[in-house]
Amino acid sequence: MKVLVLNGPNLNLLGQREPEVYGKTTLADIESMLQTRAKSLSAKLEFRQSNHEGELVGWIQSAPDQFNVVILNAGAYTHTSVALRDAIAATSVPTIEVHLSNIYAREEFRHKSLCAPVCKGQISGFGAFSYVLALEAACNLKVT
Ligand code: DQA
Repeated sequence: MKVLVLNGPNLNLLGQREPEVYGKTTLADIESMLQTRAKSLSAKLEFRQSNHEGELVGWIQSAPDQFNVVILNAGAYTHTSVALRDAIAATSVPTIEVHLSNIYAREEFRHKSLCAPVCKGQISGFGAFSYVLALEAACNLKVT
């Protein structure tokens, strides 16, 4: 199983960004936790972050050649990006949406995810552990 983990805008600031909301764990900490779990699941994992919508779209477009599943924390683009939603809808690779925070327990503008309807599923609210849950879900998907 080859898994591509994509992180959107401002997630590079985890650890120092609104720690009361997102915790003190850095993105590097999350990657190393996931790489450890991936090894025990015999999965191969690639972890990327971008602040640019078009770069995320490009990575989703090229995923089918290299990966079986995409795990996506699109950050604020979750709530705004028709382009990301269309990229997810267009790809043959199943996408799992993740969020550190529970987006439904926060401001109203975060309650709507444009991406969720075209994703396999969504995990929201478990902090860094949301990513681990998404990886477990990814490894349980029947993919070709
Ligand atoms: C987030 C939730 C989004 O609403 C926010 O814009 C983020 C992080 C999360 O992981 O909780 O950047 O995706």
